[in-house]
Amino acid sequence: MGTVTPWARRGRAASGAAWLLVALAGAGAGGARAAPASAAAPGDWTMDGRTSDGQRYSPLDRINEHNVGRLGLAWSAELNTFRGVEATPLVIDGVLYDISAWDITTAFDARSGKVLWTYDPKVPTEWGRYACCEPVSRGLAWYQGKAIIATLDGRLIALDGKTGAPVWTVQTFDKSAPYSITGAPRVFDGKVIVGNGGADFGARGFVAAYDAASGNFLWRFFLVPGDPAKGFENAAMKRAADTWNGDWWSLGGGGGAWDSFVYDPKLKLIYVGTGNGTPLAQHYRSPQGGDNLFLCSIVALDAQTGEYRWHYQEVPGEEWDYDCTESIVLSDLTVNGRKRQVLMQAPKDGFFYVLDRRTGELLSANNYVPVTWASGIDIKSGRPQINPAARYGLDPVLLTPGPGGGHNWFPMAFNPKTGLAYFPAYEQWFVYARAPEFAPKKFRSNSGWGGFSGAALEKRKALQKEGDAHEKAFLLAWDPVRQAAAWKIPLPRHGNGGVLTTAGNLVVEGTTKQTLSIYRATDGKLLWEMPVQSAPVAGAGTFLVDGEQYIAVNAGWGGGAAQVERGSGIAQNRASARLLVFKLGGAATLPPLVDAPPIAEPPPLVADEETVLKGARLFGETCAVCHGQMAQGGVKDLRHMDAATHASFNDIVLKGIRADRGMASFAGLLTPADVEAIHAYVISRANEDWGHRNEHE
Ligand code: HEC
Repeated sequence: MGTVTPWARRGRAASGAAWLLVALAGAGAGGARAAPASAAAPGDWTMDGRTSDGQRYSPLDRINEHNVGRLGLAWSAELNTFRGVEATPLVIDGVLYDISAWDITTAFDARSGKVLWTYDPKVPTEWGRYACCEPVSRGLAWYQGKAIIATLDGRLIALDGKTGAPVWTVQTFDKSAPYSITGAPRVFDGKVIVGNGGADFGARGFVAAYDAASGNFLWRFFLVPGDPAKGFENAAMKRAADTWNGDWWSLGGGGGAWDSFVYDPKLKLIYVGTGNGTPLAQHYRSPQGGDNLFLCSIVALDAQTGEYRWHYQEVPGEEWDYDCTESIVLSDLTVNGRKRQVLMQAPKDGFFYVLDRRTGELLSANNYVPVTWASGIDIKSGRPQINPAARYGLDPVLLTPGPGGGHNWFPMAFNPKTGLAYFPAYEQWFVYARAPEFAPKKFRSNSGWGGFSGAALEKRKALQKEGDAHEKAFLLAWDPVRQAAAWKIPLPRHGNGGVLTTAGNLVVEGTTKQTLSIYRATDGKLLWEMPVQSAPVAGAGTFLVDGEQYIAVNAGWGGGAAQVERGSGIAQNRASARLLVFKLGGAATLPPLVDAPPIAEPPPLVADEETVLKGARLFGETCAVCHGQMAQGGVKDLRHMDAATHASFNDIVLKGIRADRGMASFAGLLTPADVEAIHAYVISRANEDWGHRNEHE
């Protein structure tokens, strides 16, 4: 059975429900359509991946391998948050547009850093509960004088580029379901394309297109089938439903397109990467197995109508949290002596894929990190040879990659001059098992993994310790034609940033050494490095103003990478997020870093074992998504709470007294006794690890 299936070419475009059409605010119907989109000046950076092929390659070479040693800070701007800042700024006509945590958007004079305007969309902080990995934004879009942002709570807002005033606003999803938007909207061919996350909580993923001038709804394509009794939106959904069983729709389905979209203007195809299912363990969502389309796939859609054209499913029946949403990059490559129009991706599952982007045919695939869930990809059928032991049951199994991925959302770059793709890679091992008494609940964090006790818990801990010993992180330069590494740079831990590459033979990356580092693109030689008091996880951008080239990066540690934070390290001792802009001869400096207070000794554990076990189960279901598996790391490491926080634990969790920082009340989901049990579990974990606290520092 081929994985590529060009069904349903004539499927009916999804009809828009009323809520999709509601224009919430905004004067003016979007203004003149007459002016065609002006071609981007070569020195500008006008869309997330710089160009619609997502290459993150700049033809600028005034900063290059010969002079980059003279690079220095031109200016910096305080972003006033400790949350992750994941966007690549846009630069148009000397103005830099940036988006930070909670979607706060600022326009700066790109030469001086002077703030021109700031727009706060006032995202309700309780919506933070629906963002697995902090209220981040991975970028914004630009169209004819307007900066277009997508907010965590689902609004698409076009802002006047000169004043920051909203021009039009539309709500893109039904707020009765736990959707969120963290990905950058993209403008292709006068349309804004937007996706969403929420698969971890049971939202039914989709992508939608709006008219970039007016905000009018154009089309929507769901990524997993809904309730068959209600009829399918199109033939593709009907066929996809054949690959599911049980009552999958009752829990939502998942498949959210929360990160990467690219566009081929000649083929007029939009390529969408899709995410995991709900619950993660397939047993609960499709008990008889099946491929579960379109989870973890690349889906090609007609840009004009949103109709299905083809798909390639990277992980059939996905259940390891291998999203296939990571950077998609288009280029022309000579593969086996033939020039091909290709699509490349290095998703979480550890394989680097090269597809023919006209048809979805798999041209080649090879693993870029060690992989144990599959022994390889069969080129003929396009299907992975899945290791039967990887289809986990109740008995814990240690596998790689883990849910952090061989490569996560951190943007990949491709340099057409070197022919190499560059991305941060991660060798993560993870223990997978289904929890014995897990019962999925609608709109809850539903991995199906938490809540172990007795021998299974001991085995899980022992295996994880073994897995952690193999952990490695590095910057990887990958040759997509040879399907082999060209060079790699070892880095201290996971969470190294997205990549920029330029015609100056440069590769620019933020690292977990808390530096911005620049390497020679051809061979990985370190050319320049500067300590920046944080690990910039975002991809950098570069632009030209008044003949001078600049490099800009958001230095804000956080997001998914912080979920696996060990010990103190970066999470504690770092500056709050900043936008940093560099140029040759730049001589600005950063204020000195203030040392974080030492970690408090945990209070003694007084609760009984049964309470701790109950707490472990509830923690896994409700808190782990933000505070880390095994209460390790996350947005705030709860093993490191001080005495005052322990004293107000119940009020934080049930009364929402920290809602302004993104910790909403869980009163609707948990009883006071539940919270007490969770608190006992956190205290037990803190005591377990207190003696080893220096191990990872
Ligand atoms: C959607 C993400 C999210 C989820 C889920 C979540 N939290 Fe939080 N939590 C946060 C954020 C964000 C903060 C604030 C971090 C800060 O102050 O910088 C926080 C802070 C806290 C704090 C204060 C810690 C300190 O040292 O200041 C406690 C206690 C806490 N959370 C407990 C819980 C518990 C218990 C659960 C599960 C019932 C939970 N949280 C679930 C996001 C989350």
